[in-house]
Amino acid sequence: MEKFRIRGGRRLRGEVRISGAKNAALPCLAATLLTSEPVDLYGLPRVRDIITMEKVLAALGESCEQHDGVTRAIAGRGDAFHAPYELVRTMRASVLVLGPLLARRRRARVALPGGCAIGARPVDFHLQALARLGADLRVESGDVVGEAPQGLRGAEIDFPRVTVTGTENLLMAAALARGRTILRNCALEPEVTDLAQLLTAMGARIVGIATSTIEVEGVDALRGAAHTIVPDRIEAGTYVIAAVLAGAGVKISGCRPDQLGALLAVLREVGVSLSVLADTIEVPEQAVPPRAASLVTAEYPGFATDLQAQFLTLATQAEGTSAITEAIFENRFQHVLELKRLGASIEVEGRTAQVHGPTPLDGAAVMASDLRASASLVLAGLVAKGDTVVDRIYHLDRGYEAMEIKLNGLGAEIERFNPGPYL
Ligand code: EPZ
Repeated sequence: MEKFRIRGGRRLRGEVRISGAKNAALPCLAATLLTSEPVDLYGLPRVRDIITMEKVLAALGESCEQHDGVTRAIAGRGDAFHAPYELVRTMRASVLVLGPLLARRRRARVALPGGCAIGARPVDFHLQALARLGADLRVESGDVVGEAPQGLRGAEIDFPRVTVTGTENLLMAAALARGRTILRNCALEPEVTDLAQLLTAMGARIVGIATSTIEVEGVDALRGAAHTIVPDRIEAGTYVIAAVLAGAGVKISGCRPDQLGALLAVLREVGVSLSVLADTIEVPEQAVPPRAASLVTAEYPGFATDLQAQFLTLATQAEGTSAITEAIFENRFQHVLELKRLGASIEVEGRTAQVHGPTPLDGAAVMASDLRASASLVLAGLVAKGDTVVDRIYHLDRGYEAMEIKLNGLGAEIERFNPGPYL
């Protein structure tokens, strides 16, 4: 199993370019099932989750060809409708094919996503809403089986709680449903907006994009389109935090600073100096360590839960005690025990982690548990004394494109290695 060996203490300097957003690329790939015409997607990040989604689409008879940075996806007139468990269990976002399959092929069999390290993460809101559009859904041998022989029809839907992929699934389903669908309490995440922009380019009729109430007037068919995936705000935020922690002048370019408002506000509040240009965030070497922060994760535009683990690592080097509350997922502090192995001083009480700093970190062997926790361990390794070995970095590869290459390009010293089958 591949690991990272990170030599701590190296200062980062120079420029790092941000890739396309994994969490926008996934729904955009699923949306290609909504038409028989080719859809060209630019800027898909080459990360494991994207490769998995392409395999799911292949299992549904779709072709995805990459050339010169463009992925051309052609679902054609296939009628396959089964997304197999072997693939779905490795990536719960496969549930995003449910809406498009029901909308266009009127049938779907998608493995019910299992549990996940960060929480139960049910998909009940997706299923309840799709049933309101007229899908007949049941769970059979661990699969969600759905039929809509008459096609889907528009309905009014109030999400009980903001759900990113739930909003995305319903946007795609409603695009081909007969009549008008009104979605209320929609997620405002930029990745949802990016999907809505692709659907509009494909001919969908959507009003209220980037607001919490979205109206969709179903159409008979959608056409092919070309679309550039929005830059990854979570990758960008991760490198901003790396630059504050270990930087001696770092530029994070090709990003959308306007989508990082909550993170930049907290950083400025605790004394971090940084400047923002059109598509670049410049972080100079910090003259003093940041002060401690108190924050609560929230749906966009609040502080992203996907940046909580990375910020918690920063908090170990801040002056004072930070209070970091995870309000979105019930079990998203797996990184805390690993950071404590490096010497961090943290107590978790319910959903809040109290982080005391600054605490010098000592390199050690640690284990990644989920995508963003693994990023927080890499960041800790950058500032720990000596070597830190992060195991199970396949978690990292799910959502960060060539992280060690990007960080080594800034002056880090990270080696990816595989110690062999017995270690
Ligand atoms: C998306 O997950 C992201 N994944 C997650 O990023 C991100 O952490 C999350 O949104 C929150 O921002 C993708 O976009 C592929 P939710 P999603 O539905 O859609 C509960 C990463 O690191 N809920 O907004 O699955 C749920 O349990 C990943 O890139 C239900 O109860 O999240 C959670 O507590 C991790 N029933 C809350 O709502 C449902 O039917 C928000 O979940 C759906 C959700």
